[in-house]
Amino acid sequence: MKRRDFVTTAIAGAGALIVGRAYTTSQTRLADARIEISLNDPIGRIAPEIYGHFVEHLGGVVYDGIWVGENSKIPNQYGVRSALVDAMKKIKSSVARWPGGCFADSYNWRDGIGPRSGRPRRPNFWIDAREWPAGAPDGPWKYDTNHFGNDEFLRFCELTGSQPYLAANVRSLSARDFYEWIDYCNSPAGATTLADMRAAAGRREPYSVRYWGVGNESWGCGGRFTPEEYAVEYARFVEWVPRYGIDLAFIGSGPNGGDLSWTRRFFGRLAEKGGFGRMWGWGLHHYSWNVSGGRTNDWFQGKGAAVGYPEEEWYELLNEANKMEKLITDNWAIMGEFDRQHRVKLVVDEWGAWYKPGSEVHNTHLLGQQSTIRDALLAGLTLDIFHKHADKVAMSNIAQLVNCLQSLFLAHEDKFVLTPTYHVFDMYAAHQGATALRTHVSSSRVEYTRQGRPASLPGLGGSASLQDRTVTLTVTNPDPKSAVETEIGLRGARVREVEVTVLSARDTQAHNTFDNPREIQPRAGSARIGSGGVVTCTFAPASVTKLQLSLV
Ligand code: AHR
Repeated sequence: MKRRDFVTTAIAGAGALIVGRAYTTSQTRLADARIEISLNDPIGRIAPEIYGHFVEHLGGVVYDGIWVGENSKIPNQYGVRSALVDAMKKIKSSVARWPGGCFADSYNWRDGIGPRSGRPRRPNFWIDAREWPAGAPDGPWKYDTNHFGNDEFLRFCELTGSQPYLAANVRSLSARDFYEWIDYCNSPAGATTLADMRAAAGRREPYSVRYWGVGNESWGCGGRFTPEEYAVEYARFVEWVPRYGIDLAFIGSGPNGGDLSWTRRFFGRLAEKGGFGRMWGWGLHHYSWNVSGGRTNDWFQGKGAAVGYPEEEWYELLNEANKMEKLITDNWAIMGEFDRQHRVKLVVDEWGAWYKPGSEVHNTHLLGQQSTIRDALLAGLTLDIFHKHADKVAMSNIAQLVNCLQSLFLAHEDKFVLTPTYHVFDMYAAHQGATALRTHVSSSRVEYTRQGRPASLPGLGGSASLQDRTVTLTVTNPDPKSAVETEIGLRGARVREVEVTVLSARDTQAHNTFDNPREIQPRAGSARIGSGGVVTCTFAPASVTKLQLSLV
């Protein structure tokens, strides 16, 4: 569709939503796009837990990324890299999932407690991965020293202000190990033998861990269960655990990609067994990856490059990211067949971009990758989707925190840098705990060529929320070539003032490095408040923008 055709269609189609009339007169120039925010149509509270993280013992995430050790020259707090702690506090980190991922179903929490010198060394789940960069030496990333264990992780959570989300091992430990882990973490001081062990390790008071995952990817690395088998395991694991007055929240392991039969068969079997076993969340994973020249379904071969990718892959990757919305609505619909009140919410506990090896900052960083402005777009549009479904999505955990997949940080020894994804989390933090508002975005699709044929991608994306008489609107413009002038109308309120923050880059391959850490960082932008209170803002090509609209 040509720009002029679009404008006509959008205005005709959105007639009922239009606020103010001045801009429809013949003298007024028409904008490229329109956003309508309904203050009278709240969707739900945006759970701060949507701004969650994921920490797995995988490559450079824990050893090098987080844990530098108490005796390190690198500034640290109790062995945890200080720069990371400070940066996580700034973005109001809400929750962190640990110890995996696939690693979780090979991990024994008992290996990571007590004096560090006495802890066992174990082969890491990822030791034989095909993706290891050439020449990766042995070290704790291959033979885990367990120096970062249960108490170190829970201390890391307290330092960063994050709630812990512990993932239990269903494939290779028992239900008893699960409830004893809960006992170790949550029993009142002096009440049990495990509470005494905790005290001996330096922590007398309980940690009061609320979120517990029951396995991970149980259809694959977590045990290769059928959904019916996993339902039986899940029910057995949660049938009895000590609660200690805590409102424990169990999270079940959801489908492989869009395999909806996993969700249907799991919930069906659980319903037959008499209920959902205090399930609080159903885990979804969605990674975006794309191919470089020629398509293949091979999980290993079929990924594109993190940086230096061909133009087509800009669009293809973002198209993959957009599939998140259907994943949410499809699973939600099926869950509603069994759980009519929708007591169980969605927990997207792994999401982000996944590229082929080659851009990692160090060869010990298995699945490490660079992050460009494209990843910032992916993060922004995904978080906007979560806000749009704030009534369904109770938590999400981007994969992973540092040095792995779509990280917020890259770190090696004393070097540390914030990625564009970090800046998106920083900008979007204003949405945490706010009320998501129904927001209608009308813009033309972005056209491109896929394998020589015409293809297209949704244009602007966005979401809005209200908190303390301020509306936060975040908008992504995935078009790397065109700015989009947009009129923004608020139904049910008038705007007094607007403050704009923009993250954008002219070069779609732009990224931050240890040598050039500020190549991409947020800057102030501008918008105009016109007659009738309509705000006009031009969204730069390849950009993520935040508008803070103070209401009259
Ligand atoms: O995040 C890397 C891996 O991706 C996780 O361990 C696993 O759950 C998923 O397949």
